[in-house]
Amino acid sequence: MRIAVAGKGGAGKTTLAATMARLAAQRGHSVNALDDDPNPNLARALGLSTEQIEQLRRVPREEILEERVDGDGHASLHLIRPFEEIIERYGVTGPDGVRVLAMTGLLGAGRG
Ligand SMILES: Nc1ncnc2c1ncn2[C@@H]1O[C@H](COP(=O)(O)OP(=O)(O)OP(=O)(O)O)[C@@H](O)[C@H]1O
Ligand SMILES: [Mg+2]
Repeated sequence: MRIAVAGKGGAGKTTLAATMARLAAQRGHSVNALDDDPNPNLARALGLSTEQIEQLRRVPREEILEERVDGDGHASLHLIRPFEEIIERYGVTGPDGVRVLAMTGLLGAGRG
């Protein structure tokens, strides 16, 4: 099952996503938590230590995603590397065994 949490700023998305991730993991599910916020703080909400958060490296999108355009001109993004390989390389495992990936983040001043 995949759950995406998006919406208005400060509505509680990160808190809710982290709580759902921890509860699902405590119930025995294998949980991967992907933070796509340009100011990522899901790892903190999940309870990872400062040392673990510092280990998280932003996943380079260009290495793992490819845009494909179908015959009608609709574009979609596809993983081009196995997900297990990506999470092994860039992920960190937090409390309750939740695996965390940071998909984005600030690249530097004036760089988006
Ligand atoms: N159910 C709740 N009751 C009271 N406070 C809450 C609740 N859920 C979240 N909060 C608080 O509201 C604030 C915003 O929550 P959170 O960071 O989860 O929102 P967000 O939607 O992820 O925000 P952003 O758009 O900045 O990423 C935090 O201080 C959080 O502790
Ligand atoms: Mg948030």
